[in-house]
Amino acid sequence: MKPKKILTAIVLASVCILARAANPTAIIPAPAKVEMVPGTFQLRADTRILAGPDLRATAELLAARLRPATGFKFKIKSAEAIGSAGDILLTTKDANPNLGAEGYELSVTTTGAVVRAATPAGIFYGTQSLLQLLPLEIFSAQPAPAVAWTIPCVAISDSPRFAWRGFMLDVSRHFFTKPEVEQVLDLMALYKLNTFHWHLVDDQGWRIEIKKYPKLTAVGAWRDGVGFGLASNSTTAYDKNGRYGGFYTQRDIREVVAYAAARQITIVPEIEMPGHSSAALKAYPQFGCPNARIDLPEKGGVFKGVYCAGNEATFDFLENILSEVVTLFPGKYLHIGGDEVDKANWRNCDACQLRIKTENLKDEKELQAYFTRRIEKIVNAHGKTLIGWSEIREGGLAPSAALMDWIGGGAESAASGHDVVMSPTKYCYFDFYQATNQTAEPKAIGGYLPLKRVYQFEPLPAKLAPEFRAHVLGGQANLWTEYIPNFRQVEYMMFPRLGALAEVDWSPPAARDWENFQSRTALNEMRLAALGVNYRALSKPD
Ligand code: ACM
Ligand code: ZN
Repeated sequence: MKPKKILTAIVLASVCILARAANPTAIIPAPAKVEMVPGTFQLRADTRILAGPDLRATAELLAARLRPATGFKFKIKSAEAIGSAGDILLTTKDANPNLGAEGYELSVTTTGAVVRAATPAGIFYGTQSLLQLLPLEIFSAQPAPAVAWTIPCVAISDSPRFAWRGFMLDVSRHFFTKPEVEQVLDLMALYKLNTFHWHLVDDQGWRIEIKKYPKLTAVGAWRDGVGFGLASNSTTAYDKNGRYGGFYTQRDIREVVAYAAARQITIVPEIEMPGHSSAALKAYPQFGCPNARIDLPEKGGVFKGVYCAGNEATFDFLENILSEVVTLFPGKYLHIGGDEVDKANWRNCDACQLRIKTENLKDEKELQAYFTRRIEKIVNAHGKTLIGWSEIREGGLAPSAALMDWIGGGAESAASGHDVVMSPTKYCYFDFYQATNQTAEPKAIGGYLPLKRVYQFEPLPAKLAPEFRAHVLGGQANLWTEYIPNFRQVEYMMFPRLGALAEVDWSPPAARDWENFQSRTALNEMRLAALGVNYRALSKPD
C-alpha cells in the first residue's frame, strides 16, 4: 500500500470505530435505541418469514427484497412463534404500546430475528432496519453468492419523532414516469419517510387525468419543447409527435397510491390554485381573467396563469376537478398550492375587482384568502383537510387549513392552532446546489444546500411555545424540477440529502451526530450503488 492509502485506511478504520461507538449500526435514520448483543444470525436457504395474514404483504415485500442478492426463496408461513431456528418472525403480538403507531422492536439473536410492532407500519419499519443490518450487497439485483448473509445480534427499540416525514416531487416542470415515481417511493421507504407530496400541477404541465375535463391532459400535459434553456436531448419524455410532457391516467394514479400504501406512504396530491395555473388555462382559458396575460417563465415571460376569482364558473370547474381527485387519494390532506399568486391579472379584471367590493375585501391578498376559504369548504365537504403553502396565510388563514411553511408563517400558524409542515428553503430545497462550485455541478436553480445543512434542520421553530409544538407535524424536502429534466438528475439531487432529512424527521435529537451520520452515509453509498441509484458522492467537496 502507498503511504497515502495506508493513511486513508487508518482514517477510515478509526471513523468506523468512532461511528460504532456512537451508533453501532449503519441504519439511516438512526434508531432511537440500539443495544448490540454478541453473536450473529445468518440467513440460510431455508430461512422462512413467519407472518400473520395482516402482515403477509409486508412479508412478501421483505422476501422480494432479500431474494435477488441471496438467491434464497424465503417461504412465507403464517405462524405466531418462531418455529425453528433460523426464521424471521413478524408479529403484532405483545407489542410495546408505548412505541406509538409507527414504532417497532427488532430483536436479532443467534437463532433468528423478530420484528414486533403494534401496526403493519411499525412492522414495515422494522423490516427496513433489518435490511440495513445485512451486508450492503443485500440491495443488489444480482446474486452475490460469496457473501455470508450475517446479521449482528441486536435489540432495537425505535419510533419516529415526527408523524409527517415528507418528500415532494415536482412532475410538472418535467414529467417523470410511473416507474420513476415508484422508484422514489421505494427509496423513501428505505429511509422510513411516509408522506409523498406529488406536485401534479403547475404552469408548465397538468399531469393528472380528469375525466370531466379531458383537455387538461390532452392540451395541458404537453408543450412544444423541454424549455428552461435545456438541451432537447436532456430528456426522453416526448410523444410520437415530438411534443414534450406526459400524464398519469387515473388508473396509473390508483396503482401508484397502492404501491405507496404497501410501503406505508401516504400520497398528498397537489392541485395548484389560484396561481401557477397556466397549464390548466391553456386548456380552459375561460376560467382565467378575461384579457389575462400569460407568458411563461420558461420562455422568458413573467405573467403566470391565475384563475379568475370573480367568475363563479371557476369554482364549479375546480369543485368538479377536486371531486375526482379525492376519489383517487385516500389520505387526509389535499394540497392546493397557493404560493406566488401573480395578482396583476386580478388587479386588471373587472370581475375580480367586483368580487373584492361585494365581499368587502381589502385587497387582492384578501381575495386569495376568500378563494382559499371557498375551496376549503369543497375540500372539507369531501372529508379532507386543506393544506397550502405559506402564502395562504396572507389575508387570513382558512379555518381548518394546515400550512406548509416554505417562506415563513409556520410558527405563527401553529401558535394559532393550525397544523403545519416545515419545509423552509434554507434547509429543505433540494433543487438548490449541493456545492459552492456550481460549475462542477449539474445546472440547478441556484441557492446552496449542502448535506450538512440539511442535517442541521430543526423542524420545531425556536420561537414556538412548547404547548403548540404538537401542531408541527414534521419536516419535508421539496424537489422542484425546472432544471431537472431526467430521473438520473432527480436521484442526484435526492441523495445523500434525503438520508439527512429522514434522520431529522425520525431520530430523537439526541441521536443526531454529524460525524457518525457521515460514516453511515459513506456506507449507504454502497447500498445506493447496489440499487443502481445516482447519488452525489460524499467525497466530493461541497
Ligand atoms: C414554492 O417553492 N414556490 C412553494
Ligand atoms: Zn378575474
